[in-house]
Amino acid sequence: MNNNWKKLIVALDLDKRSEIEKAIDIFAPKGVKFKIGSIAFTKFGPDFVKGLIDQGIDIFLDLKLYDIPNTMARTSSVIAELGCWAFTVHLYSGREALGAVKEAVAKTAEKMKKARPLILGVSVLTSSEATKSEIHDLVRQADYVGLEGVISSANDVKEIKKDFPKLKVITPGIRNPLDQKGDQKRIATASIAFANGADYIVVGRPIIEKNDYLKAAEEIIRG
Ligand code: C5P
Repeated sequence: MNNNWKKLIVALDLDKRSEIEKAIDIFAPKGVKFKIGSIAFTKFGPDFVKGLIDQGIDIFLDLKLYDIPNTMARTSSVIAELGCWAFTVHLYSGREALGAVKEAVAKTAEKMKKARPLILGVSVLTSSEATKSEIHDLVRQADYVGLEGVISSANDVKEIKKDFPKLKVITPGIRNPLDQKGDQKRIATASIAFANGADYIVVGRPIIEKNDYLKAAEEIIRG
């Protein structure tokens, strides 16, 4: 279980700063990473994110960019300037936009002398159904452009790793059998995700909707 803390990304889908701080105090010393998505980013903004990064916390900025190539590239440069550990783009945005993002991130990181954030492509949201070939075609774009990884359901990890071994796979939709599914459709336990080869799991509500975040996270990563 100890090793699995380093493969856990807690989704800070919270709009109360005190709850975000509580999660960080509990999990940061264990080497856990944190995902800031549209809820916390819209509420607290980039200065808040920068403050966390400056404390040495690994932030995965999950804004799921999906726009024209110029807008995606320029937004990605700003994200690289912030110094995030990783961020997401929609693979549906296509090769031209994804290539522009890759180039913009490399240039900005070099200019700022910062580590390049990992660019992670969202295939199909785990709250939607998807066919294997739909996922394969999208992930192939990520591999072709040279993104570092993709976000995919635990059930697709094995095939992605077989067909595209260079890509990291990050898996949301993690639930224990007694957890509420919520809006997620393609779910699995953490142990299934890891057994299938997931590099990281992303977990939000099964942890942040409980009072005891630590106990909830222990139950999740024990699977
Ligand atoms: O609360 P829950 O564990 O379902 O949270 C999963 C997190 O992962 C949410 O922040 C959601 O936005 C994100 N996510 C997802 N499916 C994707 C990509 C990201 O659920 N394909």
